Amino acid sequence: MSSFNKQVVLITGAGSGIGRATALAFAQAGARIVVSDVNGSNGQQTVELIRQAGGEATYIHCDVADPEQHTAAVAFAVGTFGRLDVAVNNAGIGGRFARLIDQTVSDWEQMMAVNLGSVFYGLQAQIRQMVQQPEGGRIVNVSSIAGVKGMPMGAPYSAAKHGVIGLTKTAALEYVKKNIRVNAICPVYTHSAMVQELMSTAPEMEERMRRVIPMGRFGQPEEIAQAIMWLCAPENDFCTGQAIQMDGGMTAG
Ligand SMILES: NC(=O)c1ccc[n+]([C@@H]2O[C@H](COP(=O)([O-])OP(=O)(O)OC[C@H]3O[C@@H](n4cnc5c(N)ncnc54)[C@H](O)[C@@H]3O)[C@@H](O)[C@H]2O)c1
Repeated sequence: MSSFNKQVVLITGAGSGIGRATALAFAQAGARIVVSDVNGSNGQQTVELIRQAGGEATYIHCDVADPEQHTAAVAFAVGTFGRLDVAVNNAGIGGRFARLIDQTVSDWEQMMAVNLGSVFYGLQAQIRQMVQQPEGGRIVNVSSIAGVKGMPMGAPYSAAKHGVIGLTKTAALEYVKKNIRVNAICPVYTHSAMVQELMSTAPEMEERMRRVIPMGRFGQPEEIAQAIMWLCAPENDFCTGQAIQMDGGMTAG
């Protein structure tokens, strides 16, 4: 894996799960990390873990459903470290597990704001900064296998995650000449607080979820983090506009 020595990396939802694992992985590769989240104590804990391992990190509160907080997070990254090389739009929620007709308008609106609006606002703030940098930048948006397949009981989630891929492809095409690469990652079930919550909805849930994955296991946040880093690596400069599936073989069939 390439070194990200002194690169400035902003990660949303970095207080937990995939976001935290990604923050730790980039820090281990030498990057300076801006950890952002709505959960301040978890965010600060990620910063502490990075510092204890000898890395450099700082925290900013950012509710990804609010466009102004993205602008503030980018300004904070640039004010603290001088530039923004990499952004990972990772923060998200699982939403309510219910059939389409039982999802409420407020379920829908919350999902659109936190899982889709978040990526649109993030891209705007991050690209406004990156177009000013001769070296451009790299962005990874965290979609899901539910962004390439339907997800029974999760219509708003699946719609939002499909939307993330549309935003990724469009942004990649619009800014390809500005040296900005934009890709998406699509994990299948991965050990995190979000999946823990889903598994707790019924005793047989974990086994049902595991059965649909050909490898017969969930992903680890560290595995998704490595794929995100690969998408951002300088050695991978020819890759943009892609949605990479990290799914233990699920979509191969
Ligand atoms: N775990 C999986 O199985 C899985 C699979 C596919 C995609 N994903 C996606 O991966 C991303 C990370 O999820 P995770 O599994 O690590 O879950 P997680 O619950 O462990 O982490 C999500 C993080 O996002 C933060 N967050 C929630 N709402 C926020 C908001 N409005 N503003 C800022 N931060 C907010 C939370 O505080 C938390 O730190 C999400 O976008 C999720 O949809 C997860």
